[in-house]
Amino acid sequence: IKKVGVLTSGGDSPGMNAAIRSVVRTCAYHTIECIGIYRGYQGMIEGDFKEMGPRSVNNIVNKGGTILKSARSTEFRTAEGRKKAHENLVKAGIDALVVIGGDGTFTGGLLFNNEFNFPVMGIPGTIDNDIFGTSHTLGYDTALNTVVDVIDKIRDTASSHNRLFFVEVMGRDAGHIALNAGIGAGAEEILIPEEDLGLERLLESLQKSKASGKSSSIVVIAEGDKIGKNVFELKDYVDSNLPEYDVRVSVLGHMQRGGSPSCFDRVLASRLGVKAVESLLEGKSNYMVGLQNDKVALTPLEQAIKGKTEIDRELLRVSDIMST
Ligand code: F6P
Repeated sequence: IKKVGVLTSGGDSPGMNAAIRSVVRTCAYHTIECIGIYRGYQGMIEGDFKEMGPRSVNNIVNKGGTILKSARSTEFRTAEGRKKAHENLVKAGIDALVVIGGDGTFTGGLLFNNEFNFPVMGIPGTIDNDIFGTSHTLGYDTALNTVVDVIDKIRDTASSHNRLFFVEVMGRDAGHIALNAGIGAGAEEILIPEEDLGLERLLESLQKSKASGKSSSIVVIAEGDKIGKNVFELKDYVDSNLPEYDVRVSVLGHMQRGGSPSCFDRVLASRLGVKAVESLLEGKSNYMVGLQNDKVALTPLEQAIKGKTEIDRELLRVSDIMST
C-alpha cells in the first residue's frame, strides 16, 4: 500500500475530523501518501481529491463536522457510478480506502471491494451508536453530552412552570441516545424503539409521578420509537387524558450532530485511525475498526452491517428505579 484515500460519508458526527487527522498522520508516520476524498462516494465519482500531508490537518482535532464534507450518493449505488469512482482512484494511484461513516458507508465500501477487489477499512462514525462490533461509534459520546446539557436547560424552565416536556432525540431506529441521555438527564420516562412501553403505561406512570409529588417531568423519546404516535400526537394525547398536565414539546434535531467532540471521541478517533491504516498496511481488508472491552478490535464489515447492536436492558431497570 502506497497511497491511502480517506472519506467521510452519511450523516456527519463529532470526531470525524479527529479521525481524518489520525488517518493522515498515521500515513505520514509510515511514509505513505494520503489523499482526502471530498463529499464521500460522490467525490470519488467526480474525482474531487486533495493530497493531505500532516500539516493539512492542524487544528481540526477539536472541530465538529467534517473538513472533507459528507454526502449520501445515489450515483454510487449504480454499477456505472462505482466504475467511474474506481477509474478515478486508479488514475490517482490510490490503492486503499478508509471510509468513515455508518452502515450505509460500510455497505458502499463492501460492494466496492467485492467488485474491484479494492482494500477497504471502515471507521464507525455516527451519533446513533447503532453499529455492531463497537461499544461506541464516533460522535455518540459527544451527542450524549450535548443532549444532557440541553435537557438540563429544559428542566430549568419545566420546573419553573410545573410543566411536562416531551423531548425528542435522534438515533434513527436505535434508542441508545435516548436511553443513556435520558438516564443522565434524570428523565421520568424514556421511550425507545427496542421496548414498547405502550400508551396506557405511559399515562399510568405520569399519573403516579404527579401523585408522588413531582411537579414537573421530562419524558425523552427516541425518534424511532414505536409507541404509535409522534411526539406532537403524544402531547395531544396526554393533553386530553391528563388535563392536570401542562405539556410542551422540544425536538432537538440536528444540533445533536454538531459541536466540538468530547475528549472520549477525540481519543477514540485517534486510536481507530491508527488501527485502520496499520491494518491496511498489514494486508487486511473489509474490516471495521471498533472498540470492544476498551480495546481496539476488528470486525468484518459484513458483520458490522448485518449485526444488531443490543441495548443494555439493565439500563431500562435503572431508569425505572430512578424515576421512583
Ligand atoms: O444517522 C445520523 C442521523 O442524525 C440520525 O440520528 C437521523 O435519523 C438522521 O441522521 C437524519 O438524517 P438527515 O441529516 O439526512 O436529516
